[in-house]
Amino acid sequence: MTNTLSLPRSVEWNESYITLLDQQQLPGKVEYIKLQTIKDVWDAITTLKVRGAPAIGITAAFGLALSALSYDTDSVKEFNKKLALDQQYLASSRPTAVNLFWALERVAKSAESASSVNEAKTKVVHEAIQIQVEDEETCYRIGDHALSLFKKKDKIMTICNAGSIATAYYGTALAPFHLSKQRDIPLEVFACETRPVLQGSRLTAWELQQSGVDVTLITDNMAAHTIKTKGINGIIVGADRIAANGDTANKIGTYGLALLAKAFGIPFYVAAPQSTFDLSIQDGSSIPIEERSPKEVTHIGDTQIAPDGISVYNPAFDVTPSELITAIITEHGIIHSPSFESIQKVLLQSAQ
Ligand code: MRU
Repeated sequence: MTNTLSLPRSVEWNESYITLLDQQQLPGKVEYIKLQTIKDVWDAITTLKVRGAPAIGITAAFGLALSALSYDTDSVKEFNKKLALDQQYLASSRPTAVNLFWALERVAKSAESASSVNEAKTKVVHEAIQIQVEDEETCYRIGDHALSLFKKKDKIMTICNAGSIATAYYGTALAPFHLSKQRDIPLEVFACETRPVLQGSRLTAWELQQSGVDVTLITDNMAAHTIKTKGINGIIVGADRIAANGDTANKIGTYGLALLAKAFGIPFYVAAPQSTFDLSIQDGSSIPIEERSPKEVTHIGDTQIAPDGISVYNPAFDVTPSELITAIITEHGIIHSPSFESIQKVLLQSAQ
């Protein structure tokens, strides 16, 4: 018996515009906005109206396709030149999640073999839609593999939002919880609120409530005490970029949770699709870490919570060394004790 899931979708293609769930309004308002230009798409990504690595990639892919539809030229060469410029522009929206660059590259490449501008336009739209369709299937598989690691009544901690609204559907780290609900397997989730911009409290708590998952919200500084007093069985997080050796960039605070998992002797899992791996970089030291506005730290909404003129450091991500990761859960299977060799084995095997 499976229960029906009805999760919100964050991005939708509508031929002449993109519909986007404005994640900045959640949980107060479930508001959909229309993105009509490439600039709208760039703004939506930089201001976190859409966020989460796969969802950023999907939105950017649609943004590139949307812009391409407006090119007024009969020359394929000219078309591809404009496409490359737009690709570069959208790639400047956020630096860490590699899915952004991966998705833009796929869309740009799809037009290369076109013999007319009309064909090129059809190809870029098709590729962007395909990226979204594939991501949904991918997330389902990740959820299925991840669920096999948990037992009934397990208590699992997570940070940020690696959920349905951060992907095409189901999510990565949250996919096993949605699937557990569908399959009537009771699990308890403890969601860290995720300062400074509160993806845990605003988005994960809301999203898991939507599907009826048993979720408890804690502030980030309650993690160690909660692991100890509530008997947390494991931690699962998403990823923005995974280097060839398994070092993983994810939302700031993830590294701290991985260290806690080690101290308490509980497993620490990363759930991510192949599109989040960046095999061109050897280890986490080459992953660019986004630093965002000090205002995210000095204010909560419009309320100032720090003195004027205070110096602020606001890295949006941190890098967890692969030695602290028990397993990386991908659509192709579970990579236990991730290393250069074990990652190559699973990802390359899947390519055959
Ligand atoms: O700054 P954000 O909200 O885009 O950061 C998102 C994360 O860190 C997620 O865990 C990651 O992108 C995976 S989403 C499936």
